[in-house]
Amino acid sequence: MRKVNIGLIGCGNVGAGVVKWVQKNSDLIEARCNMQLEIAKIAVKNVQKDRGLSIDQSIFTADASTLVNAPDIDIVVELIGGIDEAKPLVISALKQGKPVVTANKSLLAFHGAELFKLAEDNNSDIYYEASVAGGISIIKYLKEGLVGNHINLIYGILNGTCNYILTRMAQNGEKFDDVLKEAQKLGFAEADPGLDIDGHDTAHKTCILASLAYGEWFEVDSIYVEGIRNLELQDIHNASEAGYTIKLLGIIKLNSGRVQMRAHPVLVPSTSLIAKVDNEFNAVWVNGDIVGDAMLYGRGAGQDPTTSAVVADIIDVALNIKCNSANRVAAFQPHKSYSKVLPMPEISSRYYLRLSLEDKPSVLANIARILGDANISIASVVQKESDSNKLPVILITHTAKEADINSAIEKIEDLSVVHGNPIILRIEDI
Ligand code: HSE
Repeated sequence: MRKVNIGLIGCGNVGAGVVKWVQKNSDLIEARCNMQLEIAKIAVKNVQKDRGLSIDQSIFTADASTLVNAPDIDIVVELIGGIDEAKPLVISALKQGKPVVTANKSLLAFHGAELFKLAEDNNSDIYYEASVAGGISIIKYLKEGLVGNHINLIYGILNGTCNYILTRMAQNGEKFDDVLKEAQKLGFAEADPGLDIDGHDTAHKTCILASLAYGEWFEVDSIYVEGIRNLELQDIHNASEAGYTIKLLGIIKLNSGRVQMRAHPVLVPSTSLIAKVDNEFNAVWVNGDIVGDAMLYGRGAGQDPTTSAVVADIIDVALNIKCNSANRVAAFQPHKSYSKVLPMPEISSRYYLRLSLEDKPSVLANIARILGDANISIASVVQKESDSNKLPVILITHTAKEADINSAIEKIEDLSVVHGNPIILRIEDI
């Protein structure tokens, strides 16, 4: 039976999972692909550290470059994350024609185009299922399952940490900071949790999905990003009273030949399937012109779901080695179908606005006039009685242009009867 040697760079949460499951499921893996997978070398910062793994300590090295260059390493698995250290190692592997498996969403979001070109030029592979919603194989689904479809839209709950926080705030009224700490303890959050809660992790994953859907590796900076750091319990509660649930979504949509790409919190109808995706679970809703609607659901953060994706990628690469068919399914196939990004001011949406207003005659009338003058129609208004002179007023609009909302909000903010900053959230009628 052919043996394939794996060089693992990084042995943290996911790396340790890969070692554990490649060993534990070795009989099944061998039976299914007629190959033997061997973890031959592991590069880590601290070789002495006890990782609780039953593996020969002598395979640990502190020298990742030597691992990449070793002639007996067939597959390089990069699990250190980040860009600065990971990128040169991945480039070096690809230049030697060695296939790479990675979970590194930021590396691909920022440098995917360059790395995929390098893989193609060197007849090598990059597999990256674990970079987006690990447990649910969305990359393979887009690249292979939906290869004959034009993609009309994708909605993704792509960050387990944020979904966990939003669920616990909505269902138990828990505080943001407390739930974030718990998500960190459970191993869902990034080393820098700002990447999760400020929406960047979702944006990186949105960039990868949009690029696969539309055939151009988009600039990650062209994605509009907002996180959940400033979401308040009262908005989650108000949304719920109006029949909505707040989720952090990656949104990718075709608009008359242009692509919308955004990552931000959004009110979705509480009756929708997406609203029912709770805790650390991820989900991706896709609409393709042949398949229609499809939704994939499962865990995307944490050791085991990510490991499951990495192991599947290793096996795909091993099969390519066995059949001498590197690049049969390109890591990314550029095709110019829809390469223009729709600028954010041009998108249309419904909006939730929370204003803190003085309780005086004509205040609401003035707000309604400003919105009306900006061509924005109000769908509902809720004003709650209060003893204080700061009345919370919640307005939900009909569909309006983002540019119009922005200019109306500027005028509303200038009114002396408006306290603080208005809260603006978009609504997606999924
Ligand atoms: N921090 C990420 C999340 C891990 O919470 O989803 C998986 O990419």
